[in-house]
Amino acid sequence: MERKLNYTDGFVDKPVLRNYWYAVALCDEVELNPISVKLLNEDFVIWRESNGGLIAAPERCPHRQAPLSHGHLENGCLVCPYHGWTFSEFGKCVNIPSAADGVPIPSRAHLDTAEVIEKYGLIWLCPGKPLKPLFELEEELDPSFRRINTEVQKWEVAATRMVDNFLDITHFPYVHAGTFGAGQETKVPNITLEYLDGDFFGYRYDILAANPEEAKSTSGSNEESVERSMSSGFNLPLTVRSTIAYKSGLEHIILLLSTPIDETSSYFTFVIWRNDDFTVPADEVISFDRAIGEEDRVMLEKLSGVMPLDRTALVNVQSDKATVEWRRQLSELING
Ligand code: FES
Ligand SMILES: [Fe+2]
Repeated sequence: MERKLNYTDGFVDKPVLRNYWYAVALCDEVELNPISVKLLNEDFVIWRESNGGLIAAPERCPHRQAPLSHGHLENGCLVCPYHGWTFSEFGKCVNIPSAADGVPIPSRAHLDTAEVIEKYGLIWLCPGKPLKPLFELEEELDPSFRRINTEVQKWEVAATRMVDNFLDITHFPYVHAGTFGAGQETKVPNITLEYLDGDFFGYRYDILAANPEEAKSTSGSNEESVERSMSSGFNLPLTVRSTIAYKSGLEHIILLLSTPIDETSSYFTFVIWRNDDFTVPADEVISFDRAIGEEDRVMLEKLSGVMPLDRTALVNVQSDKATVEWRRQLSELING
């Protein structure tokens, strides 16, 4: 029988998704100039006020829709590149250069700002009203851990396909054969889903990972292969966290962030926390994870369209348990 897949079943227009936080840029990407980001099909401008705080607002100027990110900053105020309307804190329009003295600024000239915060080295945007605070990661406050950020990339793949991939360990021996997956056991033991802590739901597992030369700085081991006790879990809607514990006591936490730009393109970045001795330079520690991410990108960009969320649309096996549960919860969330 022919299996019908509905590849047009979009998700980014589901209103509830607007009420969550999404990583859109690194904090240090917004300094002297405003930037433009796209989230859930909407364009936003983000700039930094003179007191260091961030403002996010729709990218189009309320006057003639010029892209505000092409403007410049004057004393922390954003000046539109087209006619110089100037926006201050809370997106308030404080100057319309063409207006005669004493003429009041129309109330609709003010920008309808969006919620924006900085956390974990990243800028997080919520276009609607946040339904919950951003999760807390205890390693962020633990002085024995250091945090390492890396660039925010654009991937030509649906964010849902990225989350599905990050929860899946059975692609390791194939997609990651060039990094840590070479020769890895393909069979996966029975998966038990559990709360990994208050924020992430997923599963724990052990793998024997290949430990090539390029991985040695990251794993802290000189062996050919290295045992890892891992966990992978999700936090709705689209965040995945993987944890790796080595026998040496070294822990390596990876936050994998998939932010929907539109139905089939996404921002991707990851954040690492590790309790090493802080001697290996951050760039060296992270280069192996970058190579792994690149392997995922190359595979995922071959998958076209939006991933069907309907539980019967794709064939699932035991090892897909975590992603099946994540898709069930996501469908419930977005379809109410
Ligand atoms: S379009 Fe921005 S000031 Fe006219
Ligand atoms: Fe992967």
